Amino acid sequence: MSLSTACRGPFPQSTLAPKADYGVAIDRLFTGIFWWAVVVFVVVEGLLLISVLRFREREGAPAPKQRHGNTALEIAWTLAPALILVFIAVPTVQTIFATDRAPPDALRVEVIGHQWWWEYRYPDLGLVTANELHLPVGRSVAVDITSADVIHSWWTPALGGKRDATPNHHTRLVFRPDTIGEYLGQCVEFCGVSHANMRLRTFVESDADFQTWAAAQRATPAPPAPESPEEAGRQAFRRYGCIGCHTVAGFSSGRLGPDLTHVGGRSTIAAGLVTNTTEHLRDWIDDPLALKPGTLMPDMHVSAPDLPALVAYLQSLK
Ligand code: CUA
Repeated sequence: MSLSTACRGPFPQSTLAPKADYGVAIDRLFTGIFWWAVVVFVVVEGLLLISVLRFREREGAPAPKQRHGNTALEIAWTLAPALILVFIAVPTVQTIFATDRAPPDALRVEVIGHQWWWEYRYPDLGLVTANELHLPVGRSVAVDITSADVIHSWWTPALGGKRDATPNHHTRLVFRPDTIGEYLGQCVEFCGVSHANMRLRTFVESDADFQTWAAAQRATPAPPAPESPEEAGRQAFRRYGCIGCHTVAGFSSGRLGPDLTHVGGRSTIAAGLVTNTTEHLRDWIDDPLALKPGTLMPDMHVSAPDLPALVAYLQSLK
């Protein structure tokens, strides 16, 4: 609908400018229901206005003729809403079934909600990342959603669909992104103090860009040069116990926090809270609770000389 153009610009999380088949299907349902609602509104308010004006009290006029029961009218106003509900229900149910089918060549992605970040696993590609999802344009994605702790909900409005991430339960979402771009989303189920800080970002890329990204993600980062600040940072990463929670392929295998194997290549850190800059990385490691209240990442009291080394190491993990 034409509203969608008006709502595109300053509202990055609008559902009115869908960028995937699922989003388009939901938008179509929304548009249909919207116009049925307009028809009902106009008819009901119109009849109300006519009644108010035509049968209003006039000086000296006799009371209007009283009516009791009108079979034709009663059948009409029972049938009309029932029919409208059928016109809404049939396309809705059709959409539910149509959007539940994953084509055999769909890209499989596992989404795991954590307090307060998103884990993404691509089982067919053998790669794991966090918070920033990359998808190839024009290919169906079959997303399997679950949670490692409490109930979260995964939603990228432009792509359509909203699914709860429930522990010990798997929900599915199938969609095919149709436009290259960066789409914002967030957790939409209250999941603790940093619920609002649990954001997500989806990059829809050309197939070539996606393949390049996937190949880079699969690569194990080369160890830093001896004596370099990055190597000092890597030692600090071990010494401060970061290895207990974070995986860096070829170096550590912690599973509690996000996989950091390629953290240097992400555009944001801390579940999309801030851009991935030297300053933000430093502040985040220095005082994680200041940025994300309740975060399970403790303040490790990293010393002033170790902090820049740690940041340099993380930035080198492209
Ligand atoms: Cu996770 Cu709200």
